[in-house]
Amino acid sequence: MFIKELHLLNFRNYEREELQFEPGICVIRGDNGQGKSNLLEAIYCLCFARSFRNYKENDLVRWDTPYYYLRGTIFLQQRFYKLEVGYEAQKKRKVIKIDGKVVKRAGLEGRCPLVCFVPEDLELIRRGPEERRRFLDREISQLYPLYGDWLSRYNRVVYQKNRALKENWHSAHSGEFLKVWNKQLIYFGSRIIKQRAHAVAAWGKLAARNYSLLFNKGPRLQIKYVTFLNKDLLAAQPEEIEAAFKARLAAAAAEELQRGFSLVGPHRDDLSFLLDEREARRYASHGQQRSAVIALKAAQLQHYNQQKEKPVFILDDVFSELDAQRRQECFNLFKDAGQVFLTMTKKEAGFATFRQQFAVPSVFHVQRGRARREE
Ligand SMILES: Nc1ncnc2c1ncn2[C@@H]1O[C@H](COP(=O)(O)OP(=O)(O)OP(=O)(O)O)[C@@H](O)[C@H]1O
Ligand SMILES: [Mg+2]
Repeated sequence: MFIKELHLLNFRNYEREELQFEPGICVIRGDNGQGKSNLLEAIYCLCFARSFRNYKENDLVRWDTPYYYLRGTIFLQQRFYKLEVGYEAQKKRKVIKIDGKVVKRAGLEGRCPLVCFVPEDLELIRRGPEERRRFLDREISQLYPLYGDWLSRYNRVVYQKNRALKENWHSAHSGEFLKVWNKQLIYFGSRIIKQRAHAVAAWGKLAARNYSLLFNKGPRLQIKYVTFLNKDLLAAQPEEIEAAFKARLAAAAAEELQRGFSLVGPHRDDLSFLLDEREARRYASHGQQRSAVIALKAAQLQHYNQQKEKPVFILDDVFSELDAQRRQECFNLFKDAGQVFLTMTKKEAGFATFRQQFAVPSVFHVQRGRARREE
């Protein structure tokens, strides 16, 4: 896949901009606060109709304007697609079109091979379980079109159940009302669990190989999905997962009523990185942790490649965070991508050598919400 064309209107600090891209590496340069990340965000938003950063939709609309509009052309599965995303801030109304036809769900979710890598990802192992879940959810909803749906419905049920638990914990019939919420938790939750297990297994296998290539005598990396069900999730039938989930909820019901919030479900799951069977979060060096994340990012790129479509790789500010060795690890990933967008500040040393080494075809210079091609 590659992005060929992007047209921005009132998106973040871009008033109006039209850009053409080619496959290969594209460097976005500029000083701080000029609109480099915003441009990457627009590319992501064109494909998935939402941001990769955790922002509210309204934040994407240029201040004091009523809407944003993105239009672009991407090359995917041997043909060009025209994509449009428009969002009206006041009505909170979003319209997504593919080839001029209105589509319901987030654009090309499930079809668009795009991997993004931001400095926060580098700290994934050190951060809390909530961030790791958010990472999982972001990446998996890109892979499977239904996942985002299940997730938002699941989260709504957790929210409602928690509210009900808080308000009704003293009621005599509370056991009954729990069943209503739990039924839905089981339905959506089991699907989420299954999908997460599959994605992590696929990435984990590739990441382990990548890590051992980076450190041929080093420790062995394993990435595991940690959930409350003690089961071989990959082999389990959907009904088995549902039954196990149901049993756990039944066992926890009394405690949930007593404590007043929902205790069991994939909203409390985690992702675990092990180096030679030990928790990387507790024992690995900072550098090892970062390399493990790079191995995971590489795995995501390769996973897309296995599906016979070269992905787009978006890197925002990652290089300034890396030492020389990990920079090289990261550069090695470029070969697995069809198109790479990366940001660099003007202060970044070594840009000239980088440009030469990779024969970078396009460089854009961003200043106050305008992007100009540099010769
Ligand atoms: N909705 C918006 N409307 C107008 N301007 C906005 C909006 N949201 C953010 N901005 C402006 O966009 C600028 C930030 O752009 P961006 O995050 O892309 O910077 P950057 O070039 O990536 O900088 P850095 O190198 O520091 O990461 C800020 O100056 C901010 O004030
Ligand atoms: Mg930025």
